[in-house]
Amino acid sequence: MIIRSLFLSNFRNFEQLQVDFGDHVNIFLGDNGQGKTNLLEAIYLLIDGESFRYSNYDTLVQLHKSESLIKSFVQNEQLQYNLKLLFSSHRKEFTVNEKKTTHTKVNLPPAILFSPESLSIIKESSDERRSLVDQLVTQVNRHGRQVLQDFKKALKTRNRILKDLAHEKIDRLIGIETLASLNQIYLKLAAEVTILRLNALSDIQNEVEKALIQIHSGQNIKFDYNYIISEKNHKNSSLEFVLETLQNRMKELEKFELQSGVSLVGPQKHDVIFLYNGNDSRFYCSQGQQRSIILAFKMAQIVYHQKVHGFYPVLLLDDVLSELDLAKQESLVSTLNQTKTQTFVTTTDVSLISKLSMSNARVFNIKNGQISI
Ligand SMILES: Nc1ncnc2c1ncn2[C@@H]1O[C@H](COP(=O)(O)OP(=O)(O)OP(=O)(O)O)[C@@H](O)[C@H]1O
Ligand SMILES: [Mg+2]
Repeated sequence: MIIRSLFLSNFRNFEQLQVDFGDHVNIFLGDNGQGKTNLLEAIYLLIDGESFRYSNYDTLVQLHKSESLIKSFVQNEQLQYNLKLLFSSHRKEFTVNEKKTTHTKVNLPPAILFSPESLSIIKESSDERRSLVDQLVTQVNRHGRQVLQDFKKALKTRNRILKDLAHEKIDRLIGIETLASLNQIYLKLAAEVTILRLNALSDIQNEVEKALIQIHSGQNIKFDYNYIISEKNHKNSSLEFVLETLQNRMKELEKFELQSGVSLVGPQKHDVIFLYNGNDSRFYCSQGQQRSIILAFKMAQIVYHQKVHGFYPVLLLDDVLSELDLAKQESLVSTLNQTKTQTFVTTTDVSLISKLSMSNARVFNIKNGQISI
């Protein structure tokens, strides 16, 4: 997918902006606080419908203004789309080719983002590791997206019943009966989500390893992962075995679920541990190695998307270059030069551009919410 142009009105510190992008590497260059990340955020928001900065729409609209508009002309394969997102603190309207729609209905390829916060994927919550894998699952096909959505709905319903039971808001017998009839479909969806995740991880494993080796200039590195359900690795488990494991676990935890009022069994409780040369990356890897794993994962995601769908999604790299040592910067740039992914990179360091043979990149100077070439 190629983002041909971007128009912003009253978005963050951009009062008005109209810019055409290059097909390949686009660099947003500027000092701190000038609007580089805001531009990536606008692109991401338009494609995804949500900001990556945990912002509500209030903070995205320019201070003292009531409404923001983001427009873009996008090309995907032979098809062209006019995307338009108009929003204020209380309303959001998304149109594609002048037709009102929602982000869940149009199947735009995801914008793959690497930001300084991406590091926490390895170090911190298992939530973020699950989201990373779920993004992969939704990326593969509509079926994956549907199963994840169906599971989320079933989880919400199950949690509501458990909560009502814990707070004695419904008749106990009726509640337990309703729960029993829901459990079968809940467990089936839970097992399906698990298998979709396992398949996606197994599909991408080699690509991540390849990208990791490339980032580390050919150094031999092994990338693997464990998929943890109740403290055991289920990397190679079948659908039947996962289902059986979840069923048994549900029986074991029945009492606790009723007490706590929340579902304690299912993919929302699983974890994915990345292994770097066979070791748990959370405890064994340096910051730089952790950064490389996530970067390699994102690069692999792009290659994977291309393999499945025949085209590359857009790559957004926020403040990545300055965080890598020179050798890794060079390998990243050479990888970017090899793939046909349209990439948006932010940096404060003007010397990087000449240092890293990025001569075919388009450079945009960002200063105080204005752009110049
Ligand atoms: N709603 C808003 N209205 C106006 N200005 C805003 C709004 N939200 C953020 N800003 C301004 O946007 C600027 C931050 O932009 P951004 O995060 O894109 O900076 P950056 O160029 O990426 O900087 P850094 O190099 O430090 O990451 C700040 O000056 C901030 O005050
Ligand atoms: Mg920034």
